[in-house]
Amino acid sequence: MTANTTNEVAQGFTSAAADADRSYDPRLADLARRAAAAGTVLLTNDGVLPLSPAEPVAVFGRVQIDWFAVGYGSGGDVNAVYTTNLLGSLVEQGVNVDAELASVYRQWCASQEPPAEEWGNWPRFYPEMEVSEDLVAAAASRARAAVVVVGRAAGEDRENVLEPGGYYLTDTERTLLERVTDHFESTVVIVNSGNVMDLSWAEELGVSALLLAWPGGMEGGRAVADVLIGAAEPGGRLTDTIARAYADYPSAANYGGKEFNNYAEDVFVGYRYFETFAPERVLFPFGHGLGYTSFDLAGARLDDAAPSPDADVVVRVRVRNTGPRPGSTVIQLYRGAPADAALPHPARELVAFTRTDVIAPGDSQELELSFPWDRLASFDDSGRTGHAHAWVVEAGAYPMYVGTSVRQTIDAGAVVVDAMAVTEQLEQALAPSPEAPFDRMTVNYGGDGRARIGWESVPPSAIDLRARILARLPEAITPTGDVGIRFSDVVAGRATLEAFVAQLDVEDLAQLAYGDVEMNSPLGAPGNAGAFGGLTEHLRALGIPPVITTDGPSGIRVSAYASLLPCGTALASTWDEALLEELAALHGQEMLRKGSDVLLAPGMNIHRDPLCGRNFEYYSEDPLLTGLAAAAVVRGIQSQGVSACPKHFACNSQETNRIYNDSRASARALREIYLRGFRICVQEAGPLNIMTSYNKVNGQWAHYNYDLVTTILRGEWGYRGNVITDWWMRYAPDPLFPQLKDSATRVRAGVDVLMPGGVTWSSKRADGHDDAVLAGYSEDDASGEHLTLGELQQTALHVLRMAATTPAARSAAEA
Ligand code: BGC
Repeated sequence: MTANTTNEVAQGFTSAAADADRSYDPRLADLARRAAAAGTVLLTNDGVLPLSPAEPVAVFGRVQIDWFAVGYGSGGDVNAVYTTNLLGSLVEQGVNVDAELASVYRQWCASQEPPAEEWGNWPRFYPEMEVSEDLVAAAASRARAAVVVVGRAAGEDRENVLEPGGYYLTDTERTLLERVTDHFESTVVIVNSGNVMDLSWAEELGVSALLLAWPGGMEGGRAVADVLIGAAEPGGRLTDTIARAYADYPSAANYGGKEFNNYAEDVFVGYRYFETFAPERVLFPFGHGLGYTSFDLAGARLDDAAPSPDADVVVRVRVRNTGPRPGSTVIQLYRGAPADAALPHPARELVAFTRTDVIAPGDSQELELSFPWDRLASFDDSGRTGHAHAWVVEAGAYPMYVGTSVRQTIDAGAVVVDAMAVTEQLEQALAPSPEAPFDRMTVNYGGDGRARIGWESVPPSAIDLRARILARLPEAITPTGDVGIRFSDVVAGRATLEAFVAQLDVEDLAQLAYGDVEMNSPLGAPGNAGAFGGLTEHLRALGIPPVITTDGPSGIRVSAYASLLPCGTALASTWDEALLEELAALHGQEMLRKGSDVLLAPGMNIHRDPLCGRNFEYYSEDPLLTGLAAAAVVRGIQSQGVSACPKHFACNSQETNRIYNDSRASARALREIYLRGFRICVQEAGPLNIMTSYNKVNGQWAHYNYDLVTTILRGEWGYRGNVITDWWMRYAPDPLFPQLKDSATRVRAGVDVLMPGGVTWSSKRADGHDDAVLAGYSEDDASGEHLTLGELQQTALHVLRMAATTPAARSAAEA
């Protein structure tokens, strides 16, 4: 353990004893199995898959037994009711697995415990068994087909690395793959990993099929067995581009910076970069994935090539199953941009997607894909279009491409926009500081029309943030003292929340801005992540319940056993919002049973770089897919009367020095890429909570970042919910208001609750409590140099509006 890691000590508790109850909802398990199969991505297949269960198959690699069901850290530390692995699942399904080889692996694994799990120092891989030429040859004399499983763990507070056992194969794994591909007629390789790893070897070694099996939760082993034998289709499509080499990724030059990280690739993240500048550096394109049949697309057309800005853009296409088996696929719609646009544009951007029904061989389905007209807009952060700080749709033709990956598309015509339209005029917010200038990527077109990378300086912030904050201090509600309104009156609709808050004194209001002092609050189920809301006896006497939070995302992290679900990347790889919503709804029911009011999920940071240790918890390099997947999960959870807490807002795209690192990104990249998924989720699903990230965004920690939380999230997007910190924020003086610091700065920024609570990790005070809110408040100072009553009340309104939705509050109101 290293002393400066955020929460290693407090996070240690959940591995402790779980109670004996391993019951689970079989519907949730079934759906988790379906989702894990639907998120499994088949990258190549020469026809070897699906395997016939009766044919002998030799399975290599220890990960067939030591299967990665989830990643490490807060997002993986679930006491799973059970887990499955590949070998066990193949045997369970009656597959003719080579018993001799299986027994060699079983014995070896029994004597080789996987490396220990230690916070932030998780194993990245499990050392592989050496296989002799003889062992492989003997197995090849008994079976024509082999399956080799290569595994990688991913985990919080630790990045993947460009080393054997990290991004690259180890020598032992390479030898294993070489020997197996040499001796067997067909070799299926399964990569069971939380991160994208180097896959350039697959082509070199001539593997017959390559399958990406993201950590799929407790049913992951069964789901992959289903896929191997064709009991389920490999339904997944890539949510990230897989490049030929790590250095090809546009983030590679800046990723992992200790103090700061310039997001110099700007909006050219993932396929937006590759399709524009370097299509030849792509091994597997965004959106790619094979099923067990093939499809042909035809008749793509726009309903209206010049739709009105109030109408949706509609594209129709006919999808025909040209292969031998029934199957479904994901149809994706991308837009290009006008050739003479003032703003630089990626060659393609996802604007809509849908999954077909299961189509019988020879049959077709007519599909309609539609999207709101303003998905044609880009954010002008420089004024180059004549409209600074605005979302604009430039005049010109926007080509539409529809297909089964960003690459495999057919033309669907072009949407023609006659005149430039401003879809939203905003103000400058969250731009990089002039003291930290950097250049960003842009496009230049040569005479041959080919896109070339150019660089330009990022427009710096020119706003007076102090003046903005002072001009927008919230009005106070006139205090009334106790007039007898109870919280249940508010929940039952007999009184307004404002009238209830008017009764609260400053101590009560300040208390509501802090969570319980530790994780594992005694007010909630053992192993919870912390509580907020009704923490003091006085607040509880008024009827405010404690609100209990638990991690997320892959399961409910409490001391008791709970279901373990597919990781975020697996879920997003399904591209199936209805499936995610249904799964999340059943998960919400489990939250009710386990005593969780708030699931600290979904994780929705952008996959900016394949080395990010927490990519497994997150969805995609694309913000639309991220936002819609997250919205589906939030809708599902919240349909059950419990709530979600999307995280980490924003730009927590690396784990290296995550609690101090400054993510520096242009206002355009923030709006179009890093904040966009959150916006979609907020506006489509109304999450009741949002968690800020540990890192700074353009010079200020997310939990103190007024423009991030108040100007943009609450102001522009109309968010009315509760905002909490990630666990234990950094303490710091206020750069603008000398009387404020720590939690006072946080409350002023619009971040309602310090989680888990007021214990400092820097032991500021002897008793360790952060009293900055009260210390920063002054009844007599209306100038704004101190915290105002209106700010404290506003925080309380956010927290209580959320607390009013909890099962405890609702049942008290009904009593
Ligand atoms: C993580 C959060 C998590 C919290 C509580 C932090 O380390 O960044 O995602 O929800 O701990 O466990």
